[in-house]
Amino acid sequence: MGTGQELYKKAKTLIPGGTMLLSKRPEMFLPDHWPSYFSKAKGCTVWDLDGRELIDMSIMGIGTNTLGYGNDEVDAAVMETVKNGNMSTLNCPEEVYLAEKLIEINPWADMVRFARSGGEANSIAIRIARAASGRDKVAICGYHGWHDWYLSANHNGGDDLSGHLIPGLSPNGVPKNLKDTVYPFHYNNYQELLSIVEQNDIGVIKMEVVRNFGPEDDFLQKVRDLATSKNIVLIFDECTSGFRETFGGIYKKYGVEPDMAMYGKTIGNGYALTAVVGRQSVMEAAQTTFISSTFWTERIGPTAALATLKVMERIQSWDIITGIGKKMQSAWQKLADEHKLSINIAGLPSLSTYSFNSPDALAYKTLIAQEMLKKGFLASTIFYACTEHTDDKFELYLNALNEVFATIAKCESGNERIETLLEGPIAHSGFKRLN
Ligand SMILES: Cc1ncc(COP(=O)(O)O)c(C=O)c1O
Repeated sequence: MGTGQELYKKAKTLIPGGTMLLSKRPEMFLPDHWPSYFSKAKGCTVWDLDGRELIDMSIMGIGTNTLGYGNDEVDAAVMETVKNGNMSTLNCPEEVYLAEKLIEINPWADMVRFARSGGEANSIAIRIARAASGRDKVAICGYHGWHDWYLSANHNGGDDLSGHLIPGLSPNGVPKNLKDTVYPFHYNNYQELLSIVEQNDIGVIKMEVVRNFGPEDDFLQKVRDLATSKNIVLIFDECTSGFRETFGGIYKKYGVEPDMAMYGKTIGNGYALTAVVGRQSVMEAAQTTFISSTFWTERIGPTAALATLKVMERIQSWDIITGIGKKMQSAWQKLADEHKLSINIAGLPSLSTYSFNSPDALAYKTLIAQEMLKKGFLASTIFYACTEHTDDKFELYLNALNEVFATIAKCESGNERIETLLEGPIAHSGFKRLN
């Protein structure tokens, strides 16, 4: 067991859940063996606590670093801010420059609020939208963070959020009187949304524009028209999709504009900054309620975001990562075909995933993490692309994965037994209590 696993064992006694983010729990990759902690990260390379150098072909900081870890230009801007001071009694000017830039990127929007996490940005947007519409009830489609307003949907009648990224989220601790305030609808199911809107006094519709597949039958435009006709505030949550296929929201691809949008994840290339942009008519409602927080005024976040946007715009990073993602999706399919394995590929190209069509799918995913780690990779069945995933790294990864696919093919044909190959427990999927 490496130093990272030792530390993680201690962490679980000190930190409920072990980590601050479900998706970074070692159990989500390789229970008992995942390196768990990093000492250094640069480009798409990560060093663990034992100094082992690993190429990150997995979640790249959960999609935060599309320009790679430690981008020189972004880091130089941040260093300058560290030198000059990150905090003071006065506000940092960068937040105004960044607001201007985000309005330039989203010309339909007039005003911006900033936060430091995606869940916060979502809560801010919901508060403002509820205040602006004067109505409490919300229809949602997608994953929007951990806050009470969102999790309360699982009080309605069970696991209503299960179709929206993470199944089994327990709303324990969320007041039960929030029941029937948030109504999930399924992507591309316009009739379902229409009946939710017609049967309830919905004031806000919030959705991810795209997650694993795109709109069909004019879905987004229909949602837009419905919101406009009923005076409902329409919010696009671009925390994950933003800056991955366009310079801004993925909504730009579909030509449908919301009343508010949130950006997060990659906008600061690993430094914490999230944003809520919106039309003045909606955003002004922020003045009729209280939304305020100390660390929303620190300077590193907006500094990093300004530098990140500059680099992204110059190199058109969204095209680069989409190209890399497309290459990855076809390489996975080719490998699977060569080994006669059946896989399902999903996701935006820059946020690609695959799964095996087999009852042993989760065990195979665990085997991939286990064997790829031995070969010097952080890997699972998710690949979030960054501009540093160069051809040489890509080739090394595919050669290594080819060998693991060969083993999986033997398991599928009955010539190997997956249980005998795994050196620890099978990875978790979804939310679970840890002991
Ligand atoms: C669409 C979307 N909204 C909100 C969030 C929550 O962001 P955070 O984890 O920064 O709170 C996420 C995170 O995965 C997301 O994908």
